Amino acid sequence: MKRVAILISGGGSNMLKLVESMTGDHPARPVLVASNDPGAGGLARAAALGIETAAVDHRPFNGDRAAFEAALGDRIEAAQPDILALAGFMRILTPAFTARWAGRMLNIHPSLLPKYRGLHTHARAIEAGDTQAGCSVHEVTAELDDGPILGQARVPILPGDTPDSLAARVLAQEHKLYPAVLRRFASGDRTAITLP
Ligand code: GAR
Repeated sequence: MKRVAILISGGGSNMLKLVESMTGDHPARPVLVASNDPGAGGLARAAALGIETAAVDHRPFNGDRAAFEAALGDRIEAAQPDILALAGFMRILTPAFTARWAGRMLNIHPSLLPKYRGLHTHARAIEAGDTQAGCSVHEVTAELDDGPILGQARVPILPGDTPDSLAARVLAQEHKLYPAVLRRFASGDRTAITLP
């Protein structure tokens, strides 16, 4: 059985979908939900499900990413995960951290990578006149929102869409894609999944 730690910064809806998926014959189980924000709504939701949680506030580190990651890394290592799943984790990671977890760390990003790395993906897709948007799950490497793609899901961009309406449509697909990719990845299969 693979052990999965999930890193969040916010409400944790993707985290919940991952946790809910890891039952029965699934090859993995959640062992930790950690956040850089002690107020992240997902921490309480995970705790309510009986999952160990950890909060390492990045703010007192005053931009010293390495020191923050050392503290976060200690909490993660204590849970002995095999896989690290970033689910709305909004801190940029140093190359040292990504190297430590190379081949074992996943991220979900709300765009059809390689388009729209970084922030404000939905506004940028609408502004560009794209007719499709979506989400990607990829292995995390040193470059931001880069690394081998493990799955993608597409949604249409509709007339009158706002960044919020598009985000909601994409998020519904994230909730399907990420559990599907995690299950496959945990079983040792890195073949990309395409939804729907
Ligand atoms: C998700 O849409 C995820 O793709 C995005 O943050 C949201 C988190 O929602 N991630 C990024 O933008 C990463 N750069 P959630 O907390 O409800 O899962």
